[in-house]
Amino acid sequence: MRLVSTIAEVRRALDDARRTGGTVALVPTMGYLHDGHASLMAAARAECDLVVTTIFVNPLQFGAGEDLSAYPRDLDHDRRVAEGQGVDLVFAPPVEAMYGAGPVLTSVSVAELSERLEGASRPTHFAGVATVVAKLFAIAGPCRAYFGEKDFQQLAVIRRMASDLSFPVEVVGCPTVRDLDGVALSSRNAYLEPEERAAAPVLVRALRAGAAAVLAGERDATTVRQLVADIVAAEPLADLDYAAVVDAATLAPVDPLAGELRLLVAARFGRARLIDNVGVRAE
Ligand code: PAJ
Repeated sequence: MRLVSTIAEVRRALDDARRTGGTVALVPTMGYLHDGHASLMAAARAECDLVVTTIFVNPLQFGAGEDLSAYPRDLDHDRRVAEGQGVDLVFAPPVEAMYGAGPVLTSVSVAELSERLEGASRPTHFAGVATVVAKLFAIAGPCRAYFGEKDFQQLAVIRRMASDLSFPVEVVGCPTVRDLDGVALSSRNAYLEPEERAAAPVLVRALRAGAAAVLAGERDATTVRQLVADIVAAEPLADLDYAAVVDAATLAPVDPLAGELRLLVAARFGRARLIDNVGVRAE
């Protein structure tokens, strides 16, 4: 496995693979890798000839007052995880290698999809994500790029960006990897105090209760949303940001509930802000 830190090195390494007809997979991350990230690398390894993972804590997607400087980092650990999954190339650039010295004047923003849910609390977040992912697509020219359903709205934004801008990339969504108690793995779980970590399963419990209500025949969106919100609100260490039931493709509200749905929540536990989601189909 090679570790490189400049755009030119990535291009050189991948051009060789492409000349011989190899398929290139891209797995973008912000590092502090866990089994959720590893699952994306494993899927990429199984399906493509050359697997590139990027480790870059992207300043553009952090708002003022968010956790950019505190974001956890451990490059030695990340190298071992990537190597263990058979990754060929790790691209871990410093900020200047990605964005140069000056301010970034170009931004990719995906309207509507970026404004709901997470976008309501984090208005500039998805433009930062779409911009860096578009840039990584341009740098690596992957055939396939792998993203987790854990960040379901992000996956929808990236799919739409790739489609609207005709990037020749297949965007692949991978299921959420969870701890034994159901908590979705996340680099931000590192911020949780032990009692907050013990309270965190309330999110997936609430989501699953909402999904079960849909499966049992509930078709009123407000009832399902309120059921999820009430379960989270009953946990004193959780401060609910939103609970929502939306169409899985458009992320728009749907009432009465029908078709492929996604239930999503966001809540603060102390200094950590956690998100989670589950899918359910209303027949
Ligand atoms: P990061 O939070 O490091 O996540 C990198 C990728 O891993 C994303 O596609 C995310 O959805 C996926 N992932 C995280 N936790 C997961 C879990 N428990 N199960 C499955 N997949 C999981 O998301 C980002 O970084 C950034 O926004 C990025 C796309 C790299 C752009 O900067």
